[in-house]
Amino acid sequence: MGKVGSWAAAMPEPVLLKTTRIQAKLMDVGQTKNVLTYGDAGMPPVLRMKKGEPFAARLVNGIDDPTTIHWHGIRVPNKMDGVPFLVQPYVYTGDHFDYAFAPPDAGTFWYHPHCNTLEQMGHGLTGVIVVENPNDPHFDAEVVINLRDWRLGDDGQFIDQFRPRDAARSGTYGTVRTANWLDQPQFDAPAGGLVRLRVAITDVTRVYAFRVEGAEATVIALDGNPVSQRFAPDALQLGPGQRLELAIRMPDDEGAVVSLGDVRGTKPKILATLRAVGTSLKRDLRDLAPLEINPVQQVDLAAAEHISLSLSATAENVPSDGICGSLGYSFWAINKVPWPGDTSDPTAPLAELKLGKSYVIDMENLTPQSHPIHLHGMSFKVLSSSTRPVQPTISDTYLIQPNEKVQLGFVADNQGDWLLHCHIIEHQKSGMTSFVRVA
Ligand code: C2O
Ligand code: CU
Repeated sequence: MGKVGSWAAAMPEPVLLKTTRIQAKLMDVGQTKNVLTYGDAGMPPVLRMKKGEPFAARLVNGIDDPTTIHWHGIRVPNKMDGVPFLVQPYVYTGDHFDYAFAPPDAGTFWYHPHCNTLEQMGHGLTGVIVVENPNDPHFDAEVVINLRDWRLGDDGQFIDQFRPRDAARSGTYGTVRTANWLDQPQFDAPAGGLVRLRVAITDVTRVYAFRVEGAEATVIALDGNPVSQRFAPDALQLGPGQRLELAIRMPDDEGAVVSLGDVRGTKPKILATLRAVGTSLKRDLRDLAPLEINPVQQVDLAAAEHISLSLSATAENVPSDGICGSLGYSFWAINKVPWPGDTSDPTAPLAELKLGKSYVIDMENLTPQSHPIHLHGMSFKVLSSSTRPVQPTISDTYLIQPNEKVQLGFVADNQGDWLLHCHIIEHQKSGMTSFVRVA
C-alpha cells in the first residue's frame, strides 16, 4: 500500500489478498506441496492498519475451494465479518469480495478464512494483523511472530488433517512446529533496547505456555488490549486465536540471545530467539509508558442480563450436514446442543441480545479439555473465574480450563449475527459453534 494523501485517506487502495496454492519449504526433506497462502510466495503478509483509519482489502479466490476472510478480534461491521451464510455469500473460485472497515482498536489481531477452515487454515491461510496507534510508546524494535503447526509426514507432504479420536479430546496436533513458517527463527534487536514482540497463535489446535529466557520481559497486552497490570510471562497459557504482546529489554552484551519458549507439556520448545546487536541503548522497562486503552464500552454490571452457557461433550454423534467444512461428527455441545456451525441452515441463535444493552456470559466448562472460546464482533471484559485470580482484561477469546466457570461481561453494541465458538477448529466443526443475534 502506498502513501495516501489526506483526502484520499477515506478511500484507501485495497490490499490484494489472493488465495493461492504454492509449494513451501517447511521441512528439511524438501518442498511441501498444496500449501495455501495469500499472495504468491511464503507466509501470508503481516497486514498493517491504523487505529480508526479506513482499511480496504480485496479477497480474490485463486483456489479450488470457496472461501472468505474473518478479521479475528477486530470489531468490524457485521457485513465485513467473513462468516459464510450468516453474513456474506461464499467467494467461489475466481470470484472476489471487497472488505472495508476502520479498525476501532489498536493491537495485535489476525485473519483467516471462515469456511472449510480445518483444511484451509491447516494448509496455511492464517496471517497476523498489526493495528498501529500513533500514540504508542517508543520501542527500539518490533518483531511479529505467527505461531502454527503443520501436519506433515516424513516426506514433508500433508497427512490427514485430523483423527476423530483426537477431535473428541484436545484436537489433533501438527507434526511440524513453526514461527513465521520457520523452525526457530532468530531476529536481531538492539542491545539494551526495548523490543515489542507481537505473537499470534494461529494454529488450529495447540495451546501454548509462554516463557522468555535470557532477558527481562513483561506482558503489555493480550488479545489486542493492554493489560491493567504488567506481569512476567511465566508459563502463561494461551490458546488458538489468542495474541500476546511482550516488552522485552534486550541484554547489554552484543551477541546475547533471548528465547521465547513454549513450556507446556513434557517437551519444552524454543519457538524463536532474539539476538542483541550493537552497543547497549541502556533502556529501562520501567520507563515504558502504558498503552492507550481501546474504546470498548464499559459493561454495566448492575443492569446486565446473564446468559448461561455450558460447554460439554455430547453422546449423540450425529454427523451434521454442514456444507462449509463440517467434519461429519459431533463430539461437543453448547447448552447441550451440538451445533452444526457455519452451514447454509444455521439453527436459531443461542441468544437474542438488545442493541446497547449489557450482558454477562456465565460460562462453564464441563469437559476435561480446555477451550479457547471466541466471540465475534464485540470485546468482553473478563470479570471473574471460579478457579484463579483474573485481571479485568478486555478480550475476544477466553481459554476456559476444565471445571472452570468464568464471567465475561460486554455491551451488545454491534448489530448483527455474531459467532461464538471454540477456536480449536476440530471442536468448532464438531458441535462447539453457535451464534448470538444483536438487534
Ligand atoms: Cu478466529 Cu470465528 O474465528
Ligand atoms: Cu474446544
